[in-house]
Amino acid sequence: MNSKIFKSGHIKLYKRENSKFWQMKIKLPKQKAIRSSSGTTILKEAEKIALNNYSLLNKENKIKIKKTLKNIFKKMHLVETADLNKKEIEFILNEAQKFISFNKMKIKKNNLLEGRTIFNLFFEDSTRTRTSFEVAAKRLGADLINVAVKDSSINKGETLLDTMTTINSMNPDVLIIRHPDEGISKKISMSVDACVINAGDGSHEHPTQALLDALTIKNRFKNFNKLQIAICGDILHSRVARSNIIILSKLGAKINVIGPKEWLPKNIRKLPVTVFTDMDKGLKNCDIVMMLRIQKERIVGKIMPNQKTYFNKYGLDYNKLKYAKKKAFVMHPGPMNRGFEIDSKLADDVTRSLIQEQVAMGVAIRMACLDILIKNRDNVIKS
Ligand code: NCD
Repeated sequence: MNSKIFKSGHIKLYKRENSKFWQMKIKLPKQKAIRSSSGTTILKEAEKIALNNYSLLNKENKIKIKKTLKNIFKKMHLVETADLNKKEIEFILNEAQKFISFNKMKIKKNNLLEGRTIFNLFFEDSTRTRTSFEVAAKRLGADLINVAVKDSSINKGETLLDTMTTINSMNPDVLIIRHPDEGISKKISMSVDACVINAGDGSHEHPTQALLDALTIKNRFKNFNKLQIAICGDILHSRVARSNIIILSKLGAKINVIGPKEWLPKNIRKLPVTVFTDMDKGLKNCDIVMMLRIQKERIVGKIMPNQKTYFNKYGLDYNKLKYAKKKAFVMHPGPMNRGFEIDSKLADDVTRSLIQEQVAMGVAIRMACLDILIKNRDNVIKS
């Protein structure tokens, strides 16, 4: 439905004779009417439904209602969390907040990014992140193209930068890139006109994962200043750990990292974290326990620990969770190695695990990032 022709006169609230329910009717010229019932006798409820639907259909109205913070994030790319300051992170989280309720509505379609072209360029396996970006882009009305890397010219000897230049000539608005080479998204961002989002570069960074984790935590705790968060497991190979350490510490949380010595990066003490090699000590007083996937694909040429031995020492189960605060929550970016780094039952326990909520927040964060970056790029092109 085209929001430009939608006027307030097209919306009607009414109650049928002898009916207890309020009805809302939207009627646009030459189109079938949409009717929705409040399902309740309370007028306020009907108003809320009408406003929700109205903001869904009318871009200007939606922004007027929900926008609270001034845009202080002016960048066109999201390639490293190190580029973000606290205010910019808070701005992105705030923008994502409005998409959480949008994503729970019956009709999850907006035209904010109608006519925009977004490419998903995944040179490493992904289900969660790739589909999350796809859902985010489509809900905002953009066209998203998934480039299957095995079908691309990369296999015919074309260099990665050649491929990017070729795609750039198709005038895309955003390139979402996952690639095993550290720093590659940044490099690409310097040679294309489109916005670039780093969806994971080797063991380096995964900014939208850390932002969605921060949003998940914010929804539970509001204030990061009093939080103690443990990040546990394969820290060395984890881009999720690195991005989370940077984002969560900038927001004011205190971070403990816990893992076997051989999986702690050499420069770990330069990061704003306290380092532990034992779960009992590291989990003490923690509000959140964030588990990491053992990155089997990056542990090549080295000895993989025995699953049972590793789980006994570092795998999170109900017993080890007792070392943390009484009501501590469990997080994991997925995909999980059940029974290796996390107990399967605990992972599925919705009273303790925020894992499914992380997935939901991922869509909201990615909608916000796409919307913000594209608007910022529009402003750069205008000026
Ligand atoms: C993470 C990734 O790919 O870096 N997963 C994800 O984005 N959902 C974590 C991981 O693979 O371990």
